[in-house]
Amino acid sequence: MAQGNRRVAIIGGLRTPFVKANTVFNDLTALDLGRIVVQELVQRYDLDPNEIDELVFGQVVPSLTASSIARELVLLTGLPRRIQTHTVVRACATSIQAAVNVANSIQLGVADVGIAGGTESMSDPPIFTSRPLAHALVSASKAKNLAARLKPFQQLKGKDLLPVPPAIAEYSTGMSMGDSAEKMAKENGITRREQDELTLASHQNAARAWKAGLFKDEVMNVAVPPKYKEIAAMDNLVREDASFEALSALKPVFDRRYGTVTAGNASPLTDGAAALILMSEEKAKALGYQPLGFLRSYAFAATDPGEQLLQGPAYAAPIALDRAGLTLKDMDLIDMHEAFAAQVASNIQAFESKLFAQKLGRKAALGEVDRSKLNVNGGSIALGHPFAATGARILHQSLRELKRRNLSKALVTVCAQGGQGAAVVLERE
Ligand SMILES: CC(C)(COP(=O)(O)OP(=O)(O)OC[C@H]1O[C@@H](n2cnc3c(N)ncnc32)[C@H](O)[C@@H]1OP(=O)(O)O)[C@@H](O)C(=O)NCCC(=O)NCCS
Repeated sequence: MAQGNRRVAIIGGLRTPFVKANTVFNDLTALDLGRIVVQELVQRYDLDPNEIDELVFGQVVPSLTASSIARELVLLTGLPRRIQTHTVVRACATSIQAAVNVANSIQLGVADVGIAGGTESMSDPPIFTSRPLAHALVSASKAKNLAARLKPFQQLKGKDLLPVPPAIAEYSTGMSMGDSAEKMAKENGITRREQDELTLASHQNAARAWKAGLFKDEVMNVAVPPKYKEIAAMDNLVREDASFEALSALKPVFDRRYGTVTAGNASPLTDGAAALILMSEEKAKALGYQPLGFLRSYAFAATDPGEQLLQGPAYAAPIALDRAGLTLKDMDLIDMHEAFAAQVASNIQAFESKLFAQKLGRKAALGEVDRSKLNVNGGSIALGHPFAATGARILHQSLRELKRRNLSKALVTVCAQGGQGAAVVLERE
């Protein structure tokens, strides 16, 4: 039966290029993107499908025709059907949750090998009908003759015919993510300058990483339908020519009058998928895999979404570090998901704040964030943010960079809808 103490290795990972919604992946669904990445991941790592025990995958904006995406992925990719699957959603931390679920199975001894990831297509969101139109359609489908079939539609008003797109807003507060980022910028005194500087660094670091070929083991090529002649080989949101002047010239989007959040310093709506292979340390040895690194600890935490919606990482990181028995100083790299530059700056401020530490009942602030260790190969603002794929992207990217630098430990954080935050401590050796 379960042992509960096995070490969890991350063998490697892969992602599709991350592309702006409604561009090159316009004809691919989230399921397509997930299939493409899982198939190539298994091939690239020469992983015997018969060794896979579990596949956990997520998608934040759901496909109504394939709601159990993890199961559909196993069926579509031709992996053995006995593989255990479940679909997870934890907003932008979805593939952190997927990785943690697989890690828990491995740690408990109920699985040896698992795949975890997430996929998102913002080019293919579900578009709903209004409630009155939906009711009319159902009534019409039950009617016995043409007159009765038409009757339910006669009561509809013009606005009932308008499609209802999915909201990127908090259900409980009605505030959009962008509104919440504005609120955080204002309450924490985050300037436009600071946001644009973080944004510039994100683009410059991502562009440098692409130029240096650092992503070649992380990002696969995707043949683009319908003709399959064009190959998407790179993220298409990274701006090599990003400049502070161009960023400063952008108008605020969410609070047009007094705001500081722009299309530049917000993460863009993105399509893409990412996945990881996890194994118990023993199994990795037995199969001859050299792990990229290990999942040392993790934590999820949450705050009131009406307060500072995207401050979750500042709540989760201290817990994950405590669980690892480590401090922020021990971290060689910090990879923080960039939902908005205002959110990154706010979380850094909280990491460094004694007052925030007191709020958490802690004696001292978590510590200073060394900017030279932060998102060194770019973050979600430049690379893009397919909600469910981002966590897996960051875990892999962080471990690869640790390996490149021959360093040991990294802290990964992701903020998420509902005031949630995720933090993971990764280690090599
Ligand atoms: C902010 C947001 C509304 C902007 O959407 P958009 O208007 O489609 O954005 P675009 O990419 O078209 O950019 C708007 C303009 O800014 C420009 N721009 C964007 N980034 C820029 C940069 N780094 N430098 C210079 N210009 C830039 C674009 O070129 C475009 O210019 P144009 O109008 O002359 O073509 C959208 O990205 C969004 O909703 N983001 C937040 C998503 C979210 O809430 N995520 C959840 C976080 S967890």
